[in-house]
Amino acid sequence: MPLVTTTEMFKKAYEGGYAIGAFNVNNMEIVQGITEACAETRSPVILQVSKGARAYANHTYLTKLVEAAVIENPEIPIALHLDHGPDFETCKSCIDGGFTSVMIEGSSLTFEENVKLAKRVVEYAHDHGVVVEAELGTLAGIEDEVNVSAEDSSYTRPEEVEEFVTRTGCDSLAIAIGTSHGAYKFKPGTKPQLRFDILKEVEKRLPGVPIGLHGSSSVPQEYVEMINTYGGAMPGAIGVPEDQLREAARMAVCKINIDSDLRLAMTGTIRKYFAEHPDHFDPRQYLKPARANIKAMVMHKLIDVLGCNGKA
Ligand code: G3H
Ligand code: 13P
Ligand code: ZN
Repeated sequence: MPLVTTTEMFKKAYEGGYAIGAFNVNNMEIVQGITEACAETRSPVILQVSKGARAYANHTYLTKLVEAAVIENPEIPIALHLDHGPDFETCKSCIDGGFTSVMIEGSSLTFEENVKLAKRVVEYAHDHGVVVEAELGTLAGIEDEVNVSAEDSSYTRPEEVEEFVTRTGCDSLAIAIGTSHGAYKFKPGTKPQLRFDILKEVEKRLPGVPIGLHGSSSVPQEYVEMINTYGGAMPGAIGVPEDQLREAARMAVCKINIDSDLRLAMTGTIRKYFAEHPDHFDPRQYLKPARANIKAMVMHKLIDVLGCNGKA
């Protein structure tokens, strides 16, 4: 089947009490690892591309890699999504360039400016058969382009969500309930706890609207240890506990964003490989186990956390 939008996959996920994995892609091995896991478990999937990914790998290379994944895995629905679209122009370029879904990130703007920007993107996107994720509430953490400190982050205010979704016409809403981007989500020694009270209130006010959760890597300690053992330095890297992601997936959360876990699996594997095979220099030798571990990690997410296996 050709690339799809997220409409149908979110509808089924909302009704079925599971979530779709939205995984960031930056190169061929990552695309292959993710989609092989999805094909093997018959899971629908969102492959998402950030502004940084487009700057690194180029729009055409990324869309062609995803096109190849669609051809190789005709039995699973795949959506191609712009992650953290910073402005109208980037969204337009992705809509014109074959994406089926875009995120417009206006959450650091005032409410009115966020509404205005999101509405403009929604109008253009819907005219072109593309769906839109908008955001209310700001996550802490580091992405390529943005570094939001914990003090500048803010939870979503449930009393704003109905007006925002009605006025913008967005298809799904990303909310901030305590997740953050990157590998250092909680202070070591503190108990990670997402604000399920906010999620419940949002769900009550927006029945049927799919909710997205950014910053949802669980930062597998097996890979943090692998990195630290083989020359890396990531002390105190902590993610969202998987039982809390499972709980969110059973609720209105239909999209769970994962990037850092892919990076950890790839980096840990390659560090270990280099340490164990100092004489090897063919990139295929170390990229192969890295891709295999990405696949294994994604399979675990699909089956044991998101619950979207068998739903393709
Ligand atoms: O949420 C952000 C993603 O992890 C993408 O990160 O901007 O470094 O590509 P990036
Ligand atoms: P992580 O850093 O938790 O993987 O979050 C990824 C994300 O939100 C991409 O938009
Ligand atoms: Zn994000």
